[in-house]
Amino acid sequence: MNRIAVLTSGGDSPGMNAAIRAVAKTTVYNGKECIGVMRGYEGLIDGEYIPLDRPAVGGILHRGGTILKTARSDRFRTEEGRKEALEKMRAAGIEGLVVIGGDGSFHGAKLLHDMGMPTIGVPGTIDNDVSGTDETIGYDTAVNTALEAIMKLRDTASSHDRLFIVEVMGRNAGFLALEVAVATGAEYVVVPELPLSIGKLCQTLSESHVHKKSHTLIILAEGVMTANEMKNQLQDTGGYDARVTVLGYIQRGGSPTAFDTILASRMGAYAAESLFVGKSGLMVGNISHRMVLSDLERSWSEQKSLSPELLGLVEKLN
Ligand code: F6P
Repeated sequence: MNRIAVLTSGGDSPGMNAAIRAVAKTTVYNGKECIGVMRGYEGLIDGEYIPLDRPAVGGILHRGGTILKTARSDRFRTEEGRKEALEKMRAAGIEGLVVIGGDGSFHGAKLLHDMGMPTIGVPGTIDNDVSGTDETIGYDTAVNTALEAIMKLRDTASSHDRLFIVEVMGRNAGFLALEVAVATGAEYVVVPELPLSIGKLCQTLSESHVHKKSHTLIILAEGVMTANEMKNQLQDTGGYDARVTVLGYIQRGGSPTAFDTILASRMGAYAAESLFVGKSGLMVGNISHRMVLSDLERSWSEQKSLSPELLGLVEKLN
């Protein structure tokens, strides 16, 4: 294998550039050539390729977003689109591909593998909802970004003795919400993985009032309902006048933390080296601090669980 390519797909996440850099530099280190594919699977179909030599990845280690841009591709969902992508790759002499993205992006990577193109996935999403790895690239940065914003909200919440609902991203999973809740010392966390009773929540809120809490913070995962819906339900059921903050896309931006920079560097290097030794159809993961490979299908077919220990902490330490 002399020439491999790398692309980013799905929602961007902090650390993707560090992973791109690691793939490119490891490839050059091994005396081979690296190609960057622009705009994910869209660029794969259009043959939008750029050379990724050492100068091309200079100065990007700590830059947020992705220099290769990202997109969600409807064309790649069709057989025709995938055939076109494969033809373009073969014509450009590309013999292997690293796909950086979430489990949605890995469906595409698996299809390419099945068509005979060696492919390795690198999990990059702020949601951390990918099985086969303890953490995904960007998750730690998103937790820290939310923490910084919520510490500011705490000041105003406590000055006014207010109840705040903060909606965080995470798609259908509660990983981001749970770690944000523990990191901010939130009183409650509401996640899609656990049933919610607004009546019970109101009762707990009234009990916390008895404990003379100066303010209350609820961290709500977007996969449950919107913060405004929860505000209305708390108003209707318990007469609470909650204030609402939706953190939104701010959680996907910014420079990666040291943790994400190191994780992305390790995963990118490991992905390139896995291709060089003939691996394919696999995803890189970080399990108990070690780089491992698992089947791409695992990323979407296996449900990753929330830590019962962290859930317990929110309740014990509120
Ligand atoms: O998967 C990452 C993520 O930021 C989710 O947390 C969020 O639900 C989704 O992407 C938003 O997607 P889009 O960029 O398409 O609006």
